[in-house]
This record gives sequence, C-alpha cells and structure tokens, in this order.
Amino acid sequence: MSSKKPLILRISPVNPELDKIRIAADIIRKGGLVIFPTETVYGLGANAFNEHAVRRIFEVKGRPQQNPLLVHIANKEWVYKLAEDVPEDAELLIKKFWPGPLALVLKRRKGAIPDIVTAGLDTVGLRMPSHGVALALISEAGVPIVAPSANRYDRPSPTKVEHIIDELSAVDCIIDSGQTFVGLESTILDLTLEKPTILRPGVITKEMIEEVLGKEVVYSQHPAPAFWALDRRYNLRSKLYLVVGEPSKVRARIKELVNEFKGKKIAVVVTEENFDDYGVEVHVIGSRNNLIEVARNIFDIMRKLESSGYTLVIFEGFEEVGLAYSIMQRLKKAATAIIRA
Ligand code: TXA
Ligand code: MG
Repeated sequence: MSSKKPLILRISPVNPELDKIRIAADIIRKGGLVIFPTETVYGLGANAFNEHAVRRIFEVKGRPQQNPLLVHIANKEWVYKLAEDVPEDAELLIKKFWPGPLALVLKRRKGAIPDIVTAGLDTVGLRMPSHGVALALISEAGVPIVAPSANRYDRPSPTKVEHIIDELSAVDCIIDSGQTFVGLESTILDLTLEKPTILRPGVITKEMIEEVLGKEVVYSQHPAPAFWALDRRYNLRSKLYLVVGEPSKVRARIKELVNEFKGKKIAVVVTEENFDDYGVEVHVIGSRNNLIEVARNIFDIMRKLESSGYTLVIFEGFEEVGLAYSIMQRLKKAATAIIRA
C-alpha cells in the first residue's frame, strides 16, 4: 500500500457505521495500516498474519523489533488458537474483564502467528478491547489485529486523533471516533510466571485481579521482561516537574516552584481539591475522588500543554496505590524531575 495521505474515516463510537468499518477492515486484510480507537488509547493496527504489514508497524513507530506486540481479538476462540496451556486463572479473568482493558500474556502456540509479532518469545500477549469500533473492525477483518499504541516509540499514547495526525502520518487509514474512554493503556498481566505478574499497570488494578483470582498478584521487577517499564521516558517538548507528598504541602511547594522559575512559560496541573491561585495558568485534571477522570485526561493534557508551548509544566503527584499507582507510572515516565514536597 502507498504511504500517501491516509484516508480519514469518522466513525461513531456508539453506533459504528458498518459501511465505513468495512472499508477499514478491507485495508487491514490486504496488509495496510489502520489507526483505530480502543477504549484505552488509539492503536496502530495491522493484520497479525501479514508479516510485511507487521514489519511496517515497527518502522512507522520507530520501535525496536525485540519489543513484542499485543494481539487484539474480538472472539474468545482465538485465545485457544493462538495460545496453549491456557490456565484456569486466564479463564476467570476473561470471564470477568473481557472485553476490556486487560491484556493477558500466555504461552504461545507455536506457528500460530509470525515470530515478528511476539519478538520470538515463547509467549503471546492477547487483548479483547471493549470499544465498539475496535470490536467491529476486528470482526469484519476476520483476522486478529496487532496494535501497539499509535504514537512514535518515545512519545505518550494518543487518546485523540489530533495528537498524532502529524506524528504518525505514514499509514493508510485513520479512524477518528473522538476521545478514548479509559485514557491509560491496558493492564498487562503475565500468567506464565510463578505468580501472576503485572507487566504494566492500568485501570484494572492489582487489587481487582487479586479479588478474582483469590491469590497474590505481583508487579514485575527488573530484570523480568517488562518491556514497558524499560521503555525510554516520554520525549516531551515541555519540562515536566512532578511534585509528590501530602496534598497541602504539594500545593505550597508548587507555589514556591512557580516563584523560582518566574519568567518562564509555566502551567500548573492539579486536582480540583488543590485548585488555587498559583499566579500562572492552572489546569484542573479531575478530582482525587474520581481518578478515572484523571486517568482519562492525563495524556491529553500532557500533549496539549507541550503544543501550547509551555516550557515548564508542574504536575501534582498522587500516592501510589490502586489506580493512582497506574497514573503515577505514566507521570514518572514524563517527569524531568520528581520533587518531594
Ligand atoms: O491499551 C493497549 O494495550 C493499547 C491499545 C492500542 O490496545 N496497546 C498498547 O500496545 O499499549 P503497546 O505495544 O504500545 O504496548 C504493549 C506492551 C509493550 O510494552 C510490549 O512490550 C508488551 O505489551 N507485550 C506485548 N506482548 C508481550 C509478551 N508476549 N510478553 C511481555 N510483554 C509483552
Ligand atoms: Mg505503547
């Protein structure tokens, strides 16, 4: 397929228009690249069986080939075609959370999918997204779709098409369905290790998984193959300071920092509870009592502020438990400095 200007399809997230879905599905089947929405973030999709198309994904993203891709499916039967020795834990989690933002790493069925997808590992990462457009696209394509987040390798994941229209234009088709719902990439859980291990935290938290499995779940630690954690920091044009500690102290420390850097183009990003007159542009990201909202907006606000030309963005941090743990992992990847209040 040519790398001319991509075809842009606007598709309703609530009632996906089947005629447009079919156009995109056809592009996928024939080996093209399609950017599409999932409930978490936008993905850069290709036919998982087409080695050439999958190779193009690595090129377009600038992603190292040793970093495997998640395989997106719309039907549970694919789990058994692509993986083997599927443990009972997987069945329990699939029943509870699929379709939804939980990817499972399972033992790969040899020969089921080209090696390039799994970077030659003996595991495969499977995900059934819950976004209506994603499900319709995968079903219509009739093949599993590999889809990394639709950003350049060193950039934050996109939750809106406008984030990436300049960043990833060498694709065949872009489906625009507005802002994604969850805002953080899926939780990735590896079920091939001694204990169920979270390789990437998301909105389905450790606590939620433990409740379903009735056993301890651990976070991966180096040198376990948690590629996500090893990825580089996000390359943002703004400097980002993350201020952590007790909320009232954070508020005072942010004020000090604003003073210290007077003259720079500064923005402050805080929760509703810490809203105040900081003497510079203030953005409210959501409420501490509604972290779902914070998660949904985090990447959008990072990208918005850098494109508005702020040289320094000061973010309020969160205590690292539950969903706030997942949010903080993204903020830390974006931070130039972490400051304890
Ligand atoms: O929410 C999401 O998961 C989004 C949307 C588009 O579905 N996709 C996404 O893909 O975030 P990506 O490629 O940006 O991140 C997937 C992560 C990578 O860090 C990769 O290393 C890890 O999943 N991964 C994939 N397969 C794996 C495997 N077999 N073992 C360990 N890690 C794996
Ligand atoms: Mg990614």
